[in-house]
Amino acid sequence: MHKAADILAILADGTFHSGQDLAQQLALSRSGVWKSVQYLQSCGLDVFAVRGKGYRLTRPVELLNQTLIQQAVSPLMQAHLEGVEVHWRVDSTNRYLLERVLTNVGSGYTCVAEMQTLGRGRRGRQWISPLGGNIYLSQLWRFSTGPAQLSGLSLATAIAIVRAISALGLGNVGVKWPNDVLINHKKIAGILLEINGESAGPSNVVAGVGINVRLSTEALAQIDQPCTDLESHLQQPFRRNQFVALLITELLSVYQQFSLHGFDYFREEWCKFDLYKDQQVNLIAGTGNITGINRGVDHQGALRLEQNGQVTSYQSGEISMRAVR
Ligand code: BTN
Repeated sequence: MHKAADILAILADGTFHSGQDLAQQLALSRSGVWKSVQYLQSCGLDVFAVRGKGYRLTRPVELLNQTLIQQAVSPLMQAHLEGVEVHWRVDSTNRYLLERVLTNVGSGYTCVAEMQTLGRGRRGRQWISPLGGNIYLSQLWRFSTGPAQLSGLSLATAIAIVRAISALGLGNVGVKWPNDVLINHKKIAGILLEINGESAGPSNVVAGVGINVRLSTEALAQIDQPCTDLESHLQQPFRRNQFVALLITELLSVYQQFSLHGFDYFREEWCKFDLYKDQQVNLIAGTGNITGINRGVDHQGALRLEQNGQVTSYQSGEISMRAVR
């Protein structure tokens, strides 16, 4: 493992550890320790040094643990869990899993990482992925149908996230079409589905989920839209491995149902969480902006937009939606 990862494993408890102790435990020089700490800081981790005391994290962090995650996946879904891989650092969990699609990994195979160096967002954007407690997860699912039959899958994915976050006791979670998950109207999670396959099937879907758990001021400054993190809303300590297991469980359950029934199965639940239902919204498409009233989604997850009394359905694709204020 990376030396910095070893240091983080020790610092994770949030107490002070002297440079000398760290050096001894890891068979490093004091300057080697210092370099690794600098590296951790450059990855976005809030670690500070106090003369005479050593190094400490501002807040403890529960590091990802493959065994804890796998064991905590619900017994009902264990049969669908192909395996979990935990990475310390990866360019993008989506890119990595797309590569694994070519090997023989099956539906349900999941990959999580402590940080991403080239996290991918929707519409070619970057997903800022610092080290320090956020969730970067990708799950593979192999569907027998072609990609065209999978419309609404990203909306169903949002439902899995809403269910997992709601289970933490947070009641103010909602969705914004097509697939943003928000708390108090600020983005808490993003979804990026990358799909390849034959038009008549089968299709491979890599579903990437990024959830903000702990965003530093620096990370917030790099993100160009209102967003929030889970720890700002939780009263109790965040049990990260347990939450990842819950998220995996919900994703497995949603994809299993989706493969049987399609999006229609989730439509009612999605509409219940739609924060912009019956509100005036702007659709931002490559061809220009379209304003109308959001009348929910159809059975394929397309947005029903009312203009002058007429309702037209819009597929997500490259379109995004903003509320008109
Ligand atoms: C969005 O732009 O809202 C989608 C963001 C999706 C980010 C996740 S993090 C895990 C997975 N790996 C990636 O590179 N992207 C997705």
